[in-house]
Amino acid sequence: MNDELKATDRSDPQAQTFIPGDGLHADERAAAGRPAAGGAQRISSTPELRARARRSLAAGAVTPSYGADRERVIELLNHALATELVCVLRYRHHYYKASGLAAEAIKKEFLQHAQEEQGHADEIAERIIQLGGNPDMDPDGLAQRSHAEYGSGDTLDEMLRDDLVAERIAIESYTEIIRYLGDRDSTTRRLMETILAVEEQHAEELSSMLQHLSRQDGVRGAPRASE
Ligand SMILES: [Fe+2]
Ligand SMILES: [Fe+2]
Repeated sequence: MNDELKATDRSDPQAQTFIPGDGLHADERAAAGRPAAGGAQRISSTPELRARARRSLAAGAVTPSYGADRERVIELLNHALATELVCVLRYRHHYYKASGLAAEAIKKEFLQHAQEEQGHADEIAERIIQLGGNPDMDPDGLAQRSHAEYGSGDTLDEMLRDDLVAERIAIESYTEIIRYLGDRDSTTRRLMETILAVEEQHAEELSSMLQHLSRQDGVRGAPRASE
């Protein structure tokens, strides 16, 4: 929990105690544009919007209309962040470990994937900051926080399989996060949808490379990563 978000805006004498969890003041819950009991969506007036925006300035981008459980979203994003960071490490390890003629084209893909996973990690960390959270990059527990594993593949075939399994785990995990978010946090949902599309592309590329490698193996035997 970001202590700043618990704090009352001292510059505003009307500011009230911040309620952890959903970013709302107690008096703002009913007026925050949430669906009313009957299901009707309330639209705030301009004076209401202006007044609420001036309160709780320490909450930054998190306004009273934020509709998700902020703490839970930050937790989910930190799992996604750990997943991306572990994928960066695995792809970079595979990039340096793979060598030889059979690996040249695949190495380039490993490096490109590593760079794209780092980009995802940066975007997720940025969103965690916007939500008032702390992007957890502590190496302690990184592998446990990550949904995907670091992997232990030795041959090119094994490395590609490790990468494909990790991508498939990320795809399933991110799909669940997107479903969970729904329309309660559309900014985070759109971010995760964009990342998910890239993970699906990665999985497709890895699958194609695996098939290509197995056809080559049928001709001249399975190459080791160090060949
Ligand atoms: Fe990624
Ligand atoms: Fe990926």
